[in-house]
Amino acid sequence: MTTLAGRRIVLGVTGGIAAYKAVEVCRRLVDAGAHVTPVLTDGALRMVGETTFSALASEPARTRLWDDPETPIPHTRLGQSADLILVCPATARIISDVRTGRSADLLTATILASRAPLMICPAMHTEMWEQASVQENLAVLADRSVVIVPPESGRLAGGDLGHGRLAEPATILAAVEAVLSAGDLQQQTVLVTAGGTREPIDAVRYIGNRSSGRQGHCIASEARNRGASVVLITTRPDTAPAGVRVVAVETAAEMASACAAEAPAADVIVMAAAVADFRPEQRVDGKLKKGDGPPPVQLVATEDILASLGAAKRPDQVVIGFAAETNDLLANAKSKLAAKNLDAIVANDVSKPQVGFEHATNEVVILLADGSHVDVALTEKREVARRVLDAAVSLLSERR
Ligand code: CTP
Repeated sequence: MTTLAGRRIVLGVTGGIAAYKAVEVCRRLVDAGAHVTPVLTDGALRMVGETTFSALASEPARTRLWDDPETPIPHTRLGQSADLILVCPATARIISDVRTGRSADLLTATILASRAPLMICPAMHTEMWEQASVQENLAVLADRSVVIVPPESGRLAGGDLGHGRLAEPATILAAVEAVLSAGDLQQQTVLVTAGGTREPIDAVRYIGNRSSGRQGHCIASEARNRGASVVLITTRPDTAPAGVRVVAVETAAEMASACAAEAPAADVIVMAAAVADFRPEQRVDGKLKKGDGPPPVQLVATEDILASLGAAKRPDQVVIGFAAETNDLLANAKSKLAAKNLDAIVANDVSKPQVGFEHATNEVVILLADGSHVDVALTEKREVARRVLDAAVSLLSERR
């Protein structure tokens, strides 16, 4: 069963060129088990055919507020029964109408007649996207908890290049899943670590690694979307998601003391950071001079933070680690799972292309302490984050 199975989604399609991509979004939502009702505006009907949506969706496409053969008030039926209203693509016009509460057609009336979450996927030319009026409307909607799936850069209608292109269908699907799975971490505190630590050699140089922090940040924002109160201990606070409490650290020692301070209050701990195993024994004050020749850098071991957290784990706490391997993935990950007293470990083979450090994608195996495992084929880090948190939720529910 996916998160979307049986969920009722009103798919509002408005009159942008990107309306043709809503056909793909519709198909994917239906494939994932959702019950999709397309609602097309007059503008959308100039771009794409009603029949296409009727053929792919769970029920015929709706286009009019009036003369519905089934009910005199289709907007209230649609609005009240929806689990989510997704507007894809969203033109500047609909964004403005939603902001002002204007009921101009079946889609805007349905949005007003609903308490369901509203998700908007803007798509327009760069000049339109950059207008202060459009940005202000979106900011107001975001303040009202409307979920905005931002557009991307790329080819636009008419051959132009720029920002404003509809987000990819996979991104939109992921956002829909995030909203509809929201809530299973409510009342929970989730502690996430992210990024590579930097161990100073002198005032300007350090020993570091290639971790971007992206996987940990995705876990933090996913956990926030699912209702958790999130503490993110990261070496990359510049790219931390909104809505989480960020503790900025640089070295393994700083991360260790931040973890020690935050862990007792956490229900779930996900250690996604790439922590240095060794640090220079001494940090030289000031900058080493080249003319003095290569410095003798004596390395000493850092604390294994995860092993400490695993050793201090409460019975009701879930502790999940990561294992970055280049060979013997499963065997190495299994021994870390046992040695660090973890509930689960997310193993990735970082020697594979597109996996792990510096990539937007990842391929992992989630090994659980009971011997079971979940394989996650190469996908976006956000999807990996979701699967890791699914594992955390089921481990939590076994505890209680
Ligand atoms: N970890 C940690 N503290 C360290 C080193 C690693 O908390 N000093 C954590 C990482 O955040 C990760 C897990 O331990 O969740 C495994 O890290 P990894 O680098 O894969 O393995 P190591 O334990 O460092 O062992 P090795 O380098 O031998 O593979």
